[in-house]
Amino acid sequence: MPSILVLSGSPSATSRTAALAEHLALRLRERDHRVRTIRVRELPPAALLSGDTRDPAVAEVVEAVAAADGVVVASPVYKAAYSGLLKSLLDLLPQFALAGKAVLPVVTGGSPAHVLAVDYALRPVLSALGAHHVVQGWFVLDSHIVAVGDAVELAEGARRPLYEVVDGFSDVLHARRPLIDAS
Ligand SMILES: Cc1cc2nc3c(=O)[nH]c(=O)nc-3n(C[C@H](O)[C@H](O)[C@H](O)COP(=O)(O)O)c2cc1C
Repeated sequence: MPSILVLSGSPSATSRTAALAEHLALRLRERDHRVRTIRVRELPPAALLSGDTRDPAVAEVVEAVAAADGVVVASPVYKAAYSGLLKSLLDLLPQFALAGKAVLPVVTGGSPAHVLAVDYALRPVLSALGAHHVVQGWFVLDSHIVAVGDAVELAEGARRPLYEVVDGFSDVLHARRPLIDAS
């Protein structure tokens, strides 16, 4: 069963990105993946800001990244890029932390004008971290993410294209798993 780590990088306590990430985690579990979600905002801020890779919580996340077959990296668009909080974690990862992994970038934003943040801002850093395959990413408009209790409802038009991208990511991981097992 291919394993997936879902990282969400919003500093907000009521983050739409984190809610969307949990929603995607549920879908991926239904597609036969072992999934763990991590909110970067729950890591010790001092360790993130001082680049302390010896911090036990940070070290545990680094290990979780290393152990995963695939990683979903979810961030809000802040100032036309991904969040600084997410960057503080990415900066702590080893140089090729994503080597051999499939990676799905997902961003949420307030304006369709920033739809390209997923490819212009987030994708390059994931490639620089050595990702084997950064699959097609997706941008979700914040107004299309509606919290219903602990769950999330996606606007009709937003659901289908997002699920296509997520299912494509799942397919890539299932196709690669036998190769990984054999190596
Ligand atoms: C500090 C800040 C900067 C933002 N900058 C942008 C931006 O440049 N482009 C955009 O489309 N949305 C921008 N937004 C809106 C957020 O990207 C959007 O509401 C997102 O879904 C928030 O996700 P979150 O609830 O997980 O933090 C910004 C929001 C904040 C708080």
